[in-house]
Amino acid sequence: MKRAPLLVFFKTQSTDLIYPELAQQVQLNVRGMNRLRPCRATTFYLVEIITPSSNIYPDFSLPFPLDGSDFRLRSHYLLLMSQSLSWNRKDLIDVEPLSRAEIETIFTAATAFKKAMEADNMKQPYLNGRTVVNLFLEPSTRTRLAFEVAASRLSADTITVTGGASSLTKGETLRDTARNMEALKADIIIMRHSASGAPNYLSKVVDIPVINAGDGSHAHPTQALLDAFTLLEKFGSLDGKKVTILGDILFSRVARSNIICLQKLGAKVTIAGPSTLVPIGFEAMGVTVCHDLKQALEDADAVMLLRIQHERQTATHFPSIGEYTSSFGLNKDRAKWLKPGAIIMHPGPINRGVEIDSELADSAQSVILEQVTNGIVVRMAILHLCSCAYHKQAIKLPV
Ligand code: CP
Repeated sequence: MKRAPLLVFFKTQSTDLIYPELAQQVQLNVRGMNRLRPCRATTFYLVEIITPSSNIYPDFSLPFPLDGSDFRLRSHYLLLMSQSLSWNRKDLIDVEPLSRAEIETIFTAATAFKKAMEADNMKQPYLNGRTVVNLFLEPSTRTRLAFEVAASRLSADTITVTGGASSLTKGETLRDTARNMEALKADIIIMRHSASGAPNYLSKVVDIPVINAGDGSHAHPTQALLDAFTLLEKFGSLDGKKVTILGDILFSRVARSNIICLQKLGAKVTIAGPSTLVPIGFEAMGVTVCHDLKQALEDADAVMLLRIQHERQTATHFPSIGEYTSSFGLNKDRAKWLKPGAIIMHPGPINRGVEIDSELADSAQSVILEQVTNGIVVRMAILHLCSCAYHKQAIKLPV
């Protein structure tokens, strides 16, 4: 197999790519690299570091003196080596089959898009000439708009189809709807559906990429990925971090996808709420189930609140909304149980005064709107990677 060039430098202006686990991996690789002899790496990052004893990365130590003369580096630079970007999936239906390396590939691409966005470089050319169809058969604000913005920023044309405005209301099957979209030269279908498994089914009946934008109570992979991306921005690494997911876990696709995604990235997950909505059976997913709110909050690095999913509940699971709020709503008094520096998350839509006190939702501890903004770049990354895999194109990113 043809080897990639020895050194490809991407100079970035921040340390965002230095997660401690990457640094450790890099350190080993640099040690084993034997100076400038050829090696298997295809991509190198030249990344500015603050100091080797930076309190952001307290475990970080350099494998060679800072002047780095052997590596012909300036004194405040460190050569970091990463795995080359590789992505072979045309569809994104669930986080479950993704490896940690694949999740990190999405984040590398999302970071590149975020840097470009921050540099006011809003439009990227990667989906120029392609048509992205948003097939949303269940209500949505954030996911639909974020996908529309993401596709538009990648220079795609976007079309949105909602349930009431499609011929599904005239008895057309989902299969025929999707195959007609493909015949109309759609290049990617993004789908939200109330039935668990619908996007997976769709991915079997069309050739083009299908992205799951939330299906029933099954999965919401892009939400979990943008949540993890937001957490990584805050904490650098999720290894050993504790995330408490509080609320209606039983009916939540966000909870399921987050439990899987966070654990793949090394976090410890606790789920909390009333026992009717947080059944003990979830322990099989590797989480801690806790019905004592104080206990669930006091060692958490982040608390992720979920609303009550009335649209998916077929029976009453607690006496009243007021009862839920008084027992499990996050208010200012209960927020004092959190550690200093712990953050508050919510995928939205939020029900102010029910699962979260209105002031807390708008407080400095809350990253709710940062999650929404990160939804753009994470979805840009997913659309770009899946399109590259489908067209068998090399992955290019803004530098
Ligand atoms: N988080 C989320 O899925 O929100 P929407 O339903 O508004 O898309």
